[in-house]
Amino acid sequence: MPAIAVHTIGKSILFGEHAVVYGYPAIAVPIPDLQTTVTIFPLIGEKQETIIYEAPDLGTAANLSDLPANHVLGKAVELFKQAYGIQKIPSFRLKINSQIPVASGLGSSASISVGIIKALSQFLGLKLSVQRINELAFELEKLYHGTPSGIDNTVVSYEQSLWFTKGQEPEFLRAPFPFHLLLINSSIPSLTAESVAAVRKERENDPVRVNGLLQEIGDLVIIAKEAFSEGNLVELGKLMVKNHALLQKLHVSLPELDAIVNLALEKGALGAKLCGAGRGGNVIALVREEKVHDLQQTFMAHGYQGIVHTKIQ
Ligand code: MEV
Repeated sequence: MPAIAVHTIGKSILFGEHAVVYGYPAIAVPIPDLQTTVTIFPLIGEKQETIIYEAPDLGTAANLSDLPANHVLGKAVELFKQAYGIQKIPSFRLKINSQIPVASGLGSSASISVGIIKALSQFLGLKLSVQRINELAFELEKLYHGTPSGIDNTVVSYEQSLWFTKGQEPEFLRAPFPFHLLLINSSIPSLTAESVAAVRKERENDPVRVNGLLQEIGDLVIIAKEAFSEGNLVELGKLMVKNHALLQKLHVSLPELDAIVNLALEKGALGAKLCGAGRGGNVIALVREEKVHDLQQTFMAHGYQGIVHTKIQ
């Protein structure tokens, strides 16, 4: 049996992060310019169930039996065994290579979760629908993020811009023409689980204020959906700035993220905001095509590295 290789993509939240955890809608977009590759090499002739996990980018290479019990690959193997009545999985080595920086709000864990599910399903000869891949990947995302809304694995599974409400099927969105986005990395790592937990704590301590902010984000996302579908870039930009201000009030921004947002706006971006969990990670800026190059140069001159330019359809 030859090796199996699957490619999955990154993601960004355009509107509605954090509020989406509490049942409000959010809009997410795929970032195909950032990819994860999951490769499975069958281990022929191994009598025992031997499973080897390799993530060279993170310097990990280990037998699954030596990894923690809650490891993502172990959980994936268990999911397949339980769901499909498999007694013993044929031996294999699984390798992950990713261009997506970890803990940066760009869907690194979701792309790994979806990639592992896709690769394992092919290895086991199962033809799964995207919906089923997404369901299984959501179970893996819970290991990383505790109580995720499911938006990350959904956009990474479907690879389309979408409107997402927790527990519901996504609605796909299509812009009338491509939008240009720049992703600027603060290079401050941020764990989604910690950021989500901090907002939860703040909501427990100050429910009226925090629920009001979450409601405001939810209301803004409804207006953003219309602007997205109409291709109203000016309105989308303004809404991004408002969404960032609401995220500041939720205390998930940082001065470093605000500085990136301000520089983007000063240099002509239509809008900019933190994306994903915040407290580090990336800022997403909406930029007219003719300004993309200038903005990239500006950010590079300010010392930012690994700026990603992507087009959203
Ligand atoms: C993370 O990309 C988005 C959050 O809203 C968490 C979640 O939806 O699971 C912060």
